[in-house]
Amino acid sequence: MNESSNTTNRCQADIANILIEALPYIQRFHGTTVVIKYGGNAMIDDALKTSFARDVVMMKLVGINPVVVHGGGPQISQALDRMGKSTEFVDGLRVTDKETMDTVEMVLGGLVNNEIVSLINSQGGKAVGLSGKDGDMIRAEKIIITKAAVNDQPSEIIDIGHVGKVSSVDANVVDAMQSQGFIPVVAPLGVGEDGMTYNINADTVAGALASVLEAEKLVLMTNTPGVLDSSGNLLTGLNSSEIAKLIEDKVIVGGMLPKINCGLDAVNTGVKSAHIIDGRVDHALLLEIFTDTGVGTLISS
Ligand SMILES: Nc1ncnc2c1ncn2[C@@H]1O[C@H](COP(=O)(O)OP(=O)(O)OP(=O)(O)O)[C@@H](O)[C@H]1O
Ligand SMILES: [Mg+2]
Repeated sequence: MNESSNTTNRCQADIANILIEALPYIQRFHGTTVVIKYGGNAMIDDALKTSFARDVVMMKLVGINPVVVHGGGPQISQALDRMGKSTEFVDGLRVTDKETMDTVEMVLGGLVNNEIVSLINSQGGKAVGLSGKDGDMIRAEKIIITKAAVNDQPSEIIDIGHVGKVSSVDANVVDAMQSQGFIPVVAPLGVGEDGMTYNINADTVAGALASVLEAEKLVLMTNTPGVLDSSGNLLTGLNSSEIAKLIEDKVIVGGMLPKINCGLDAVNTGVKSAHIIDGRVDHALLLEIFTDTGVGTLISS
């Protein structure tokens, strides 16, 4: 046998090994639901977008039920900029008046949602776009921000408009889609008791859906390797007391706070595992589901 056929045989064996390595994961996760928060860079870079869509389609075809929840902060900012509308943030939350909410709804429920649906469908999946308002899925509650009293200034309640949190979830519409072989793609909008539409952080929508759907996994894709410590090193696993300490020490701040909190809530309410993974890694989702190559932070209770 010459050297090149030896090399070919070795490559074939490697490929076969890689494929068969996925078997235990397919067996374990067949028939389960995995809720994926899709956001950050993975939603902007074209090559990453395609590999994300292919991962989702592959999951569905091997019998796993993916549910995608997406963000869209940068796309909302872009649209508002184009309209010449300035935005103000309070505690990292966008002050959202009625006019801004109309734009948010157009961008999240229209542009971004449809783009992800098309992306998945172009890879052979059957995705259906939903907003949290469809089927009365996500009930929202207005977020009230209270600024504590400082010196002689009294405490203050700041109205940031149509920014909400999840108050309850009715996942019947997701179940109906899944049973017909569709992949639900959910925009993080909800309706309040007051009949108003609310913009909700997509991580928290994904977490709440994962709990109600009794998901096997909650996967939060983001733009960092996972949760980092104060020196910038990846923390591959975190439990509730370690999380509390990192929040207290202000190591976990900003956009990582809703992620870590909803991940912890999810595992405390029956979701088997919650992961914060790097959406900038090609096929991050595939690696997370079908191999034991950890690509981020695993949250446990
Ligand atoms: N300890 C930490 N480790 C890693 N990232 C952290 C930490 N604390 C805060 N962050 C910040 O959290 C950010 C991720 O949250 P962010 O809300 O910006 O992105 P996203 O949720 O993935 O995207 P989007 O909100 O647009 O859907 C990181 O880019 C980082 O700046
Ligand atoms: Mg975020």
